[in-house]
Amino acid sequence: MPENENIPGSTALVIFGVTGDLTRRKLIPALYELMLADRLPENFYVIGFARRDWTDDFLREQMRSGVLEFARNQPVNPEIQNRLLQKMFYLQASFDDTEGYRVLANRLAELKIENCLFYLATPPSAYETIVEQLGAANLPHAHSGWTRIVIEKPYGRNLESAIQLDNAVHQVFDESQVYRIDHYLGKETVQNILVFRFANGIFEPLWNRRYVDHVQLTVAETVGVGTRAGYYETSGVIRDMFQNHLLQLLTLTTMEAPSSFAANPVRDEKVKILRSLRPIHGNTAIDETLRAQYVAGTVDGERVPGYKDAPDVSPHSVTETYLAARVYIDNWRWASVPFYIRSGKCMPRQVTEVAIQFKQVPLSLFGWKNLAGAAPNVLVLNIQPDEGITLRFGAKAPGPINQIQPVSMEFNYEETFGGEPPEAYERLLLDCMMGDATLFTRTDEVHAAWSFTTGILEGWAENPVRNLPIYEAGTWGPQQADPFIQRDADQWRNLDL
Ligand SMILES: NC(=O)c1ccc[n+]([C@@H]2O[C@H](COP(=O)([O-])OP(=O)(O)OC[C@H]3O[C@@H](n4cnc5c(N)ncnc54)[C@H](OP(=O)(O)O)[C@@H]3O)[C@@H](O)[C@H]2O)c1
Repeated sequence: MPENENIPGSTALVIFGVTGDLTRRKLIPALYELMLADRLPENFYVIGFARRDWTDDFLREQMRSGVLEFARNQPVNPEIQNRLLQKMFYLQASFDDTEGYRVLANRLAELKIENCLFYLATPPSAYETIVEQLGAANLPHAHSGWTRIVIEKPYGRNLESAIQLDNAVHQVFDESQVYRIDHYLGKETVQNILVFRFANGIFEPLWNRRYVDHVQLTVAETVGVGTRAGYYETSGVIRDMFQNHLLQLLTLTTMEAPSSFAANPVRDEKVKILRSLRPIHGNTAIDETLRAQYVAGTVDGERVPGYKDAPDVSPHSVTETYLAARVYIDNWRWASVPFYIRSGKCMPRQVTEVAIQFKQVPLSLFGWKNLAGAAPNVLVLNIQPDEGITLRFGAKAPGPINQIQPVSMEFNYEETFGGEPPEAYERLLLDCMMGDATLFTRTDEVHAAWSFTTGILEGWAENPVRNLPIYEAGTWGPQQADPFIQRDADQWRNLDL
């Protein structure tokens, strides 16, 4: 992370949607951590914009409780916390209320703000309105320093709506001012994928179609849809996870080395991967993906109702809560290597990992009992929990019976570096203020990711199904998951502990 002296002067963070969940749970605790580490500018203000009838004091009390509950470093330092809270102000207005933006402009002028970061922590349906209103109030160009805008995911619902949103944004902001956030990229272990790959010579020669048999990317959540079923019905795994987090993980795992570790060279390489994805559309959307929905079951010892039992879910819903996809990258490095991508809700364990399965040895020399599996070499990048890296290989088990047993070499982030890694939002908020867009998604990247994803969505729409396969909450997916991966004689990794 950059040092404090690099942080520019008088800066305001304007949070649209300050009364929402993201602000209290993630943004304000992240600001607290940045202030604790002395990384925020001295003249730093937060202006919160939302509809509820709150006052400055009430906002501060809400955020105090957010910091106490969610700050990474506990116990919370009251002096630092107070210093942050004193710089917070509330502005009550609706996003379509022009007067609210006039009041905002006055407030920013009174505070002599040089740099302004607008953060859209709002429902996606509000993005265009806010951007237009900011433009009408001339706020994107009113400051002597920089002005930037952070836009949360989801960025569009398909390619068309993402382009429409981009057009609206570019009417008002230059692309260099736009920071599209995918908080997965702020995770230390996600960034470590690039360090691991490009700061170490040992694995690079193996990182290609000659030595890699296939790759499995998993993002499994134990939670169901909870109270967010209304949102989830319009989203499903494909929009909630696949188009953004999973494709981002895929690009980092497979991209070529950038010419330098700077925003545009990194994003140039990522976009090349997204453009090399073999399109999945029409009937192939049915063959190359597997969707399912959870029914009632038990997760972590607790009884969980089925997806269709949640309020706001149609009894005829075909929204997927589990998605597996077989993806190919048609480029020189990865031609013919299958990438199996899966994500689901109500799974037995929360786990995010990228597992690179290496090929079998050319000739089996040992007529031994092989408990390590046909091809025992797997490199696992553990994104969460248990952040770290594991390399698995076969070893001779001691004793007279000839057995090859799987063993592991492990790097564990917490054991090595001590303490939990910083929260993604800490890094990302600081990067925005520093003007480093490396970990944010560029417009062409968003379009390429949506172009691929929209092919799948259209293929599903052209081949409608009455019901999706089901899986019991607390299991690793539907029974069709095994035949789905076995086409290439593979099996899903067993992620039970
Ligand atoms: N929550 C998370 O952990 C999380 C994680 C990753 C990404 N995100 C993304 O972050 C964004 C915000 O999520 P969230 O969970 O914080 O949503 P949320 O709890 O529903 O909050 C929405 C906020 O927008 C405000 N708002 C909505 N319509 C408004 C209007 N017309 N005028 C003024 N204010 C309005 C609400 O204020 P009032 O209620 O006061 O009107 C509230 O402050 C979403 O795009 C989400 O996808 C969230």
